[in-house]
Amino acid sequence: MVPHLTREVGLEGIATLTEPSRNWSRRTTYFAIARMTVPSLTSRALTALRSATAFEHAQLDRLSPLTRDGLDGEGYVAHVERVLGWMRPMEKALWQGPLTATLPVALDPSRRNVKSDWLAYDLASAGFSAQAITDLPDCPYITPPRDLAECFGMTYVMEGATLGGAFLLRTLADRLPNHSLVWLNGYGDNTGRLWKQFLRALDTYVVTERDITAAAQSAQYSFQSFRRWVIDGANQMQE
Ligand code: HEM
Repeated sequence: MVPHLTREVGLEGIATLTEPSRNWSRRTTYFAIARMTVPSLTSRALTALRSATAFEHAQLDRLSPLTRDGLDGEGYVAHVERVLGWMRPMEKALWQGPLTATLPVALDPSRRNVKSDWLAYDLASAGFSAQAITDLPDCPYITPPRDLAECFGMTYVMEGATLGGAFLLRTLADRLPNHSLVWLNGYGDNTGRLWKQFLRALDTYVVTERDITAAAQSAQYSFQSFRRWVIDGANQMQE
């Protein structure tokens, strides 16, 4: 079941800020202010995850086709194909792997295991058959999590992508009026609430130095696999 697409992302902390501009350099300020709005949820684990992945996130922001001025519907769909190829094995490793039964209820797995469906929905709306979607190649660089800390590191990246989606939706909805943007809409009005719920679980379960380091490394690796498969892989196919 794919939620109804809405332009109101309802992401607390973002809603009060200025409209996103086509000038992407302004995003840094936007990002920094948004982060400052929930200081009580900034755990040691979150600080470590952010600092371990800041470079990778900035690279994605700069290199993603979604932040290019010339993005059109075809470009969006091609990008979604690549993201699905990354998300599918990520979700499988996380939500259908050997550790799945041990994941805390606070992580709300059944609520979060929906992102491949969002991506598939956008592709189906663009004319892909169910078989064509199944046949899309999957990223081979995903390694299954070895413990709960690594599960949190991977979840951080996948859930964080919904924040970026909410931001991008505000600009791209006008530019791509005839395309389904369910992936960018993410949890819609619930995006902020689910992010905070994740941050609270992170604060509860990722506490020791060892676990914080493991989560940060896993998050960094997840970003790198995204970069390699979605960005570099798409560029190689065009050459
Ligand atoms: C390509 C364009 C992207 C843009 C413009 C973008 C933008 C943003 C913005 C504005 C936020 C801050 C939201 C907030 O703090 O409330 C954010 C957070 C985040 N994004 Fe992105 N994003 C992009 C892509 C991605 C991708 C592809 C991933 C993952 C593969 C990702 C992972 C994250 C994570 C983990 C956070 C949470 C950071 C934190 O608060 O600790 N982003 N992004």
